[in-house]
This record gives sequence, C-alpha cells and structure tokens, in this order.
Amino acid sequence: MSEVKIGFIGAGGNARGHMTRLGDVEQARIVAICDLSEDAAGSAVEEFGGAAFADYHAMLDEVEMDALYISIPPFAHTDAEILAAQAGLHLFVEKPVVVEMDRGLEILDAIRAAGVLSSVGYQLRLMDTSQRIRAYLADRTVAMISSHRWGGFPGVPWWRVMDQSGGQLHEQTTHQVDLMRYLTGHEVVEVYAHYDLLAMGDVEGIAIPDSQAAMFTFDNGTIATVTTSPMMMQGGGKSDLNFLLRDQIVGWSAGQVSVMGLEAPDLAGEAQEMPGAPAHIDEAFVRAILAGDQSLIPCSYEDGLRTADVTLAANASSRAGEPVRPKMA
Ligand SMILES: NC(=O)c1ccc[n+]([C@@H]2O[C@H](COP(=O)([O-])OP(=O)(O)OC[C@H]3O[C@@H](n4cnc5c(N)ncnc54)[C@H](O)[C@@H]3O)[C@@H](O)[C@H]2O)c1
Repeated sequence: MSEVKIGFIGAGGNARGHMTRLGDVEQARIVAICDLSEDAAGSAVEEFGGAAFADYHAMLDEVEMDALYISIPPFAHTDAEILAAQAGLHLFVEKPVVVEMDRGLEILDAIRAAGVLSSVGYQLRLMDTSQRIRAYLADRTVAMISSHRWGGFPGVPWWRVMDQSGGQLHEQTTHQVDLMRYLTGHEVVEVYAHYDLLAMGDVEGIAIPDSQAAMFTFDNGTIATVTTSPMMMQGGGKSDLNFLLRDQIVGWSAGQVSVMGLEAPDLAGEAQEMPGAPAHIDEAFVRAILAGDQSLIPCSYEDGLRTADVTLAANASSRAGEPVRPKMA
C-alpha cells in the first residue's frame, strides 16, 4: 500500500484539526467525510476533498477506504466502529471513546476479531516530554500523583449534558488521567470521587458538575488525586500533573517538564525544565497503517478504553458515594 484512503465520521472542530494535519502527510488522502450536518460535511469536503455524506452507513457502503476517523460527541458512538472494523478499516477514534463501558467492550471485541489497527486521540503521549518522563519513572517509585485541570467551558451544546459528554473529568481531563496511566505504566484499581455543581448553576443548560475531585489507587499502591473544573469561563486556568518521588517532584504541564528537589539532568537538563515539542498523532497513524504495525501508534482502542473505564468508574463512584473498581481492572 502506498496511499492510505481515509474517511471521516464527524466534521466538527476537532475533526477539522485532524484533516488539516493529514494534509502534511504525503501518503494520506481523504476520500469521504460524513456529518449529520450537511453544511459541516460540505464545507469540510470543499476544503479537504472527498465526497460528502450525511449518513455514515451510506458512506461505508459506497466508498472504498482503508481507514476511518470517528470524531463525534462521546454519546454518539453506536455501530460505526463495529461496522467499520467488520469491513476491515483501521480506526482512529477520538477520546473519550464511549460513555458506557458495555458499548466500548463490544467495540473492542469487534476490533480484536477483525485484527484492524486502532488509535485513540491521546496525542499528549507522543510529546518528547511525556516520553522522557515515562522513561525516567520506569524504574523509580512514584508514591503520589496530583493533577489539576481548572479551565474553560467548551461551546458545543452536548458538553454540558452529563449523559452526552460524561462531564469534564471524563471528556477533557481524560488526558490527565491517561497520562497518569501512561507515564507510570500502572493501572488504576480503585476510584473514589465526589462532584458538585457549586458556582455555575446559572449557566444555560448546565447539567454537569462544575467541581470534581477524584482519588485513584494504582495496582502498585501509588495514590493519586485529580481535581477539575470548567469554571474559568473568561479564560486562563491551570493544568498540571505532579509526580512525588523520594526527595523529588517531577512536573508535567502543557508539555513542559519541571523538576524540584534532587536534580535530574538526564530528564530536564541543567535548567531543570524543558519545553515540549508538538506531536503528530495523525502521521503516526498513517505510518502504522503503511507498515502494518500497531506499535507505532501511541494509544490503541483497548488502551484508550481503559482510560475511559477509569473516569466512568469515577462517575459511578460519585453517584454511589463509595469507591468503585474499574471494569477492566
Ligand atoms: N484529542 C483531543 O485533544 C481532542 C480535542 C478536541 C475534541 N476531541 C474530541 O473529539 C470529539 C468531537 O469533538 P468536537 O469538538 O469536534 O465536537 P463538535 O460538536 O464540534 O463536532 C462533532 C460533530 O459530529 C457530528 N456528529 C454527531 N453525531 C454524528 C453521527 N452519528 N454521524 C455523523 N456526524 C455526527 C456533529 O454534527 C458535529 O458536527 C469529542 O469526542 C471530543 O472529546 C478531542
């Protein structure tokens, strides 16, 4: 194969980012774009090429392709992944991959049965800063992790409905939870979470908590906390991830490494910090398809589903008022 023919389901803000970046990848060609909104599909096709569709069943029946991006709201994942896997298409699914684990496990079965490659949009894994921290932590004991994501409120309507987005921890802060798993190489075995809507009750249509705190226990005993809120509606905020080791704090923030305490020149250089480089997850996906090699993709569907499992367990814990074990743990 010298060219990868790609279709899209979803032509919203995030999908257009992938389409733009695929323009830099010589072997990638967009052959079809589907969106429930004909305007969204039509304008994307005008800019990026291919044929426009409003129904992906018709697109999958009519267009020959090698790979499919699915970039739709979290609640909208129904049969697309399963049909595409059965048709032998390699899949790029945006995070969070589902709002219900049973659906995710069904999709995972279909991907495994078909033997197609899969990728989930956890692009922060690819940053060289993430890779360095991961290598650094591999043979060290991480006692505790703390993370914040205190940021803004996306304008898309589905985001403010719990059943549709899963709330901010599941939808956005999934990146921080994913990095906790990926950088330590350990799995979460228990989650205890508490949520409330405290200061944003007057926002039209809001049906998600604006204050979420979760405590995670990992399989090696590491204890982690994450707090997240979209309360910074006028801009600004704070997003970080800190790993506490004996006599040292390793920090990841917006792709920057920082080290406090014991020096770690092999991790951060003399300045004890280094900026991150941009990652190209779309190029990685296309290269993996051309090589037939899943290992070139930083996050498979199974791996992405494990991250969703953790934040869905947090949602279940906040409802039950007691600790919950993720289903895949
Ligand atoms: N990896 C990242 O950093 C990152 C960044 C932003 C968004 N995302 C994810 O990408 C996904 C989409 O987010 P967005 O901001 O583009 O949302 P959006 O609302 O802008 O776009 C979603 C599009 O999907 C379309 N759609 C919904 N159901 C459909 C269906 N059944 N068939 C065809 N089209 C359908 C909608 O009409 C809409 O145009 C979400 O899961 C989001 O979490 C990931």
